[in-house]
Amino acid sequence: MVSIEASILSADFARLGEQAQEAQAAGVDAIQIDVMDGRFVPNITFGPGVVRALRPLVDLPLDVHLMIVEPERHLEGFAAAGADRLIVHQEATPHLHRVLQSIRELDVEAGVSLNPATPLALLEEVLDLTDMVQVMTVNPGWGGQAFLDGQLDKIRRLKAILKERGRDVVIGVDGGIDPITAPLVVEAGATVLVSGSSLYNDRASVRENLDALRASLAHR
Ligand code: DX5
Repeated sequence: MVSIEASILSADFARLGEQAQEAQAAGVDAIQIDVMDGRFVPNITFGPGVVRALRPLVDLPLDVHLMIVEPERHLEGFAAAGADRLIVHQEATPHLHRVLQSIRELDVEAGVSLNPATPLALLEEVLDLTDMVQVMTVNPGWGGQAFLDGQLDKIRRLKAILKERGRDVVIGVDGGIDPITAPLVVEAGATVLVSGSSLYNDRASVRENLDALRASLAHR
């Protein structure tokens, strides 16, 4: 079963609560909150306060994507604010093993995200501490970027590694996911698709955009 998560990075920041509820009503499986600190990525977005504000408004899992340096400093704050999954970047900490242990100790699901240049080998020693690997299919920092086709092979190789290791780890993808690229990433092995600008845009409603995304996967 493929899950689709709405990234609020492309939502109307003046109406984040309503836009999260719109995505819930349309039928998304979770909300992904893209936290950016202006250092790990050039953009700056949300803090724990936004997670706390959204928590009572939707019944969906809140996945917090930490595109920040020193994520270990903020795990408790985001968990206390209501995060259901904390996704840290392998590139953002020299102590990934300890960070994932800390997330697990907070009774929150642990995700690791890899930038396009980061090899899968850097995950080998932490797969037993990981609930989801999120493969970036754009260079992080902004919504609306073009999908990086070269990451499809990485998703396929990751699926093979997880199967060989017998690891029950979910493969997520994030960046440039639309009705064209969604079938490609699912074919490669992804089961969690994060989508921002394909859901939140002025071309159609969230519901219509989500229906188009799900229709593209109808034969999968
Ligand atoms: C990193 C962000 C984005 C966002 C999805 O830039 O993590 O990838 O979630 O953005 P779209 O779906 O607009 O590419």
